[in-house]
Formats: sequence, C-alpha cells, structure tokens
Amino acid sequence: MPVTARTRYDTVAMSLHWLIAALLIFMLFFGEEIMETEVGGGAFGPSLHVSIGSAILVLSVLRLVWRVINPPPAYSASMAPWERLAATATHVLFYVLLIGIPLTGWLATPKFLRDEDALAGLTLFGAFPLPAAPSLGLPMKGIHEIGSNLGIVLLALHVLAALKHHFLNRDDVLRRMLPFGRAR
Ligand code: HEM
Ligand code: HEM
Repeated sequence: MPVTARTRYDTVAMSLHWLIAALLIFMLFFGEEIMETEVGGGAFGPSLHVSIGSAILVLSVLRLVWRVINPPPAYSASMAPWERLAATATHVLFYVLLIGIPLTGWLATPKFLRDEDALAGLTLFGAFPLPAAPSLGLPMKGIHEIGSNLGIVLLALHVLAALKHHFLNRDDVLRRMLPFGRAR
C-alpha cells in the first residue's frame, strides 16, 4: 500500500490538459480569424478551424474516458469548501464547452456552406471531407459564439484561481497539474 496518497494528476491527464488547453486557447482567440481566412481563395483557414476544433472534441472525449478509469487526486487539503465547489463547477462547465463548442460548430456548417459556397471543400486535416451536418433550423452560429465567449470567461477565472493558489496561498494546486516541482 502506498504510504502517501497520490496528490498529482497522472501523466496522461496532464498531457491531455496542456495539449487541449493550447489548442483551445488558440481557437478562443484566433478561431474567428482563421474561419475568415481564405488562402488562394481556398478553404485552408476554415479547414484548419474545423480540424483543430474536431481534434479538441476527440481529445476531450478521450480525456473524459481516461478520467473515469483513472480518477483525479482528491482536492488539495488547503482548499476551502467554496473553492472546491467553484473548481468543480468550472471543470464541469469546461467539459461541457469542450464537447459543446465543436458540436455546435459542426451544426453551424450547413448555413455557413450555403452562404459561402466557395468553401465547400472543407476537409479534416486535408485528409477527409468534413461529414455533412443536419440543418436544425436553430441559430447555431450564435450558440457556437456564446460558447466560445463563455470559454474565455472560464479561462480567465481558471487561470486567476491557479495563480492565486500559487502566488498568494502558496499551496500545491498549480503543481498538481505540472510534471515538476514539489507536491506534498
Ligand atoms: C473548441 C473549438 C472551437 C472554437 C473555440 C470555435 C470558435 C469559433 C468562433 C469564435 C467563431 C466565430 C463566430 C462568429 O463569427 O461570430 C467560429 C465560427 C465558426 N465555427 Fe467554430 N470553433 C470551434 C470548433 C469548430 C468546429 C469543430 C467546427 C465544425 C466542425 C466549427 C465550425 C464553425 C463554423 C461553420 C463557423 C462560422 C459560422 C458562420 O459564420 O456562419 N467550429 N468558431
Ligand atoms: C482553455 C484552457 C484550459 C482548459 C479547457 C482547462 C481545463 C481544466 C479542467 C477541465 C481541469 C479539471 C481536470 C479534471 O479533474 O479532469 C483543469 C485542472 C487544472 N487546470 Fe486547467 N484548463 C485550461 C488552462 C489552464 C491554464 C492556462 C492553467 C494554469 C495557469 C491551468 C491550471 C490547472 C490546474 C492547476 C488544474 C488542477 C486543479 C486541481 O484539481 O487542483 N489550466 N483544467
């Protein structure tokens, strides 16, 4: 039996956290711009948008499956009950957005392609055509955009919380998600 309980996230959880974080931060800030960038009149920018977005969806599903099989360490003992509640709410909402934003984006493609028929050549990683989505008649572009804006707000709260723990409380919350540094 281990003498001390595990206090860090495991290597797979950490790798997926940081890889998805990098991809999502790129999409939150540059997603709209690349969606509007046509290189040589082709669908390069929009294809990059749907490819990175789909990668976020697939990696997040893998991450959730991994999390069910390998539960994360218990919250740091230094965290107050309201902090645990706020952290859990933020993490759950992040997972909802990591899956919901790409799905609403996919559901926004029929109208987008009708409006911009020059971009019918949307591909995933230049390898497969993007599967056709059903037209639900709902304002998917607006929902996709709201999801993305909510993602920016959550990211700000999440990063401020991590920095507060590291620099003000001086506890191990940030180190739990880093492969180096002391973790009690
Ligand atoms: C987490 C990943 C994603 C983020 C953060 C994201 C973010 C955004 C943002 C900020 C916009 C601009 C919205 C506006 O013009 O007001 C946008 C547009 C769009 N996105 Fe995404 N997106 C993601 C994934 C996807 C995926 C996977 C698809 C398709 C499979 C997709 C399809 C679209 C489409 C079609 C538009 C243009 C809608 C239109 O102008 O009619 N997105 N996205
Ligand atoms: C958009 C980018 C990001 C997303 C979507 C994201 C998402 C998440 C999620 C869902 C968790 C909970 C993990 C789980 O239990 O399954 C988590 C944990 C964590 N994240 Fe992020 N994160 C992002 C960026 C960042 C950044 C930039 C930092 C550092 C400044 C950070 C620091 C942490 C830390 C320290 C934890 C562990 C909290 C704990 O359980 O004690 N994250 N993140």
